[in-house]
Amino acid sequence: MSAQARVLVASNRGPVSFHAEDDGSLSVRRGGGGLVSGLSAAGQGTGAVWVCAALSEADRTAAREAPAGRIDRAGYDTGGLAVHMLDIDPGTFARAYNAIANSTLWFIHHLLYDTATKPVFDGRFRKEWASYEAYNAAFAEALAAEASEGAQVVVQDYHLTLTPRMLRSLRPDLRIGHFSHTPWAPPDYFRLLPDDIARAVLEGILGADHAGFLTRRWAGAFLDCCEELLGADVDRAAMTVAHAGRVTEIGVHGLGADAEFLRDRASRPDVEARLAALREAVGDRKVIVRVDRTELSKNIVRGLLAYRDLLRTRPEWLGRVVHVAFAYPSRHDLPEYREYTAAVQRIAKEIDDEFGDGTWQPLILHVNDDFPRSLAAYRLADVALVNPIRDGMNLVAKEIPVVSERGCALVLSREAGAFEELGADAVVVNPFDVTATTEALHTALSMDDAERGERTKRLAAAATALSPQQWFLDQLDALG
Ligand code: G6P
Repeated sequence: MSAQARVLVASNRGPVSFHAEDDGSLSVRRGGGGLVSGLSAAGQGTGAVWVCAALSEADRTAAREAPAGRIDRAGYDTGGLAVHMLDIDPGTFARAYNAIANSTLWFIHHLLYDTATKPVFDGRFRKEWASYEAYNAAFAEALAAEASEGAQVVVQDYHLTLTPRMLRSLRPDLRIGHFSHTPWAPPDYFRLLPDDIARAVLEGILGADHAGFLTRRWAGAFLDCCEELLGADVDRAAMTVAHAGRVTEIGVHGLGADAEFLRDRASRPDVEARLAALREAVGDRKVIVRVDRTELSKNIVRGLLAYRDLLRTRPEWLGRVVHVAFAYPSRHDLPEYREYTAAVQRIAKEIDDEFGDGTWQPLILHVNDDFPRSLAAYRLADVALVNPIRDGMNLVAKEIPVVSERGCALVLSREAGAFEELGADAVVVNPFDVTATTEALHTALSMDDAERGERTKRLAAAATALSPQQWFLDQLDALG
């Protein structure tokens, strides 16, 4: 393996994934999203190498067959990106990804536990944790092998909290960054983790020279945890943490919507076709749009309860509004997510049974993935409903105002990271308060066209102030 890379990115999910075709061949698909587009634009000229995990059997086959895991050297189209995919043992990967990253760290940072019964940290958990350590070590070793002297390495997210420290011990010459795309839990909640594991997570990230967060609030929570759980020396003015003889800088780097990509993609024929179908279904009624992963933290169920309350308590909207709710599948290996999807479908059916008649369909729910259809819904939105329990940023809140045709009123949870930048022009809600969310929907639907248009302009400007490209370059700049 050549130790040539000056810039490296590490993330669990990489920019490409593989699918086994009927004839046994593998086809490659490129992922979307801010991280991919940010790196694609900014990273190409730098010769960056992207280290990621094989997520499926097809990925593992491709990774095994590629020279040293380098997908780009095996003849696949990676859009010019150098991609090193790690063939991690499936059991180790499943325990690290499902049990630790998604069922433990994600739940901690989004405050998702029903603490009367969960979490339970027992012998099984310790085995899962050992897999998480092994998975993080596999990343550290691959990065150490690929990085040139003094290279910059940016490690992404809660899947890889231990990697910075492990990598530093292998390669003290490197400049290492870590970036959290999630919220960070306050100390009283973070301490649900076993003491040694809470420390390991914090000290793992502090192995980096720079730890980045999406908002001041999440960075502040991290500082609080370092102070209270590690006894670290925290300087909030300088935004530094001194611990165990090292200093880590803490940075806040917001991530914005990719306006150019969205506007171009949203005007393509496949989006036009879906828009025509949606328009037909909706007629000239007002449209409330939400688009999410079917994710516990997105608060879809309370959003539907608020919509039902609106129809019950504000009869003036009967027959005059349609709620378009797209909840695409996510993390279906976890039973909580399957049950949540079923709960969303159940309440949607109740709404339909209670209010639907032959002439008006009050709710259009889809639980399968169709990106062009989501963009068509963005274009149609009069109101965007973004009410997460807690969210690192929530890019949908930023994307809909950029794409909506008539301008949209944004109903936004104050617990979403995007609230820091968009709160001033949104109708802000406490996501647990269904009655207040009902009122917010009414306010948003009733907003006059001029005000909605003005607010949308300001929302779109704030939403696109930080391009994904800039966000990525900021991470590198922060490493000096
Ligand atoms: C969301 C979060 C990211 C996270 C990603 C993982 O987008 O904001 O922090 O990395 O989910 O999703 P996945 O589908 O890979 O589990």
